[in-house]
Amino acid sequence: MDFSFLQEYWSFFLKGAQWTIVLSIFTVFFGVILGVVLALMRLSKVKVVKFLASAYIEFIRGTPLLVQIYLIYYALPYADIKLPDYVAAILTLSLNSGAYIAEIFRAGIQNLDKGQMEAARSLGMPHWMAMRHIVLPQAFRNILPALGNELVVVIKESSIVSVIGIMEITYQADTVRGIVFRPFEPLIVAAIMYFVLTFTLSKLLSRWEGRLHRT
Ligand code: ARG
Repeated sequence: MDFSFLQEYWSFFLKGAQWTIVLSIFTVFFGVILGVVLALMRLSKVKVVKFLASAYIEFIRGTPLLVQIYLIYYALPYADIKLPDYVAAILTLSLNSGAYIAEIFRAGIQNLDKGQMEAARSLGMPHWMAMRHIVLPQAFRNILPALGNELVVVIKESSIVSVIGIMEITYQADTVRGIVFRPFEPLIVAAIMYFVLTFTLSKLLSRWEGRLHRT
């Protein structure tokens, strides 16, 4: 094996890592917003609202991310919507992640002691106010580890957007493979980079989770 290409091309991988991190952070950020909305919709008593959220979540979870990215990337121009590629990438990843995060939130809300909602309601708070000030903050704290885990998943899944030319780690590895005519080694570098990112993050998260449980 020959890794001498790194001398010249290490910056490609560094750029890739920056893109991967930026994509993942934006994705989970927007995913959380979408996820809260979808989770509340899915728990709603209004049948249509509940149905819409469920249908969306099931559709997203039941179709491959690769197909979703192609759909959005090629469908938008038909609707005369022109987005920069990286916006389309973040959009797709967020729409996808939001469905998974919605289920995390739903579990978090449902696992919270019913007494929390009942106590708030008995103090005269309307349902939405109890949800907003009593239930959601506690649910959010309980699911923080699961959200951290979603970030780890998104870091890996973001490799998919290399197919539309987003210059994240996988794309950069492909580029370097083409330039230096070594089909194999650049991929090892990419794998190591993903591993370092996800492994460090998981370690940080579990340490942080331990601290959450102690207090
Ligand atoms: N590889 C999965 C798919 O193609 C995507 C899973 C995304 N998961 C997530 N937790 N955001 O469908």
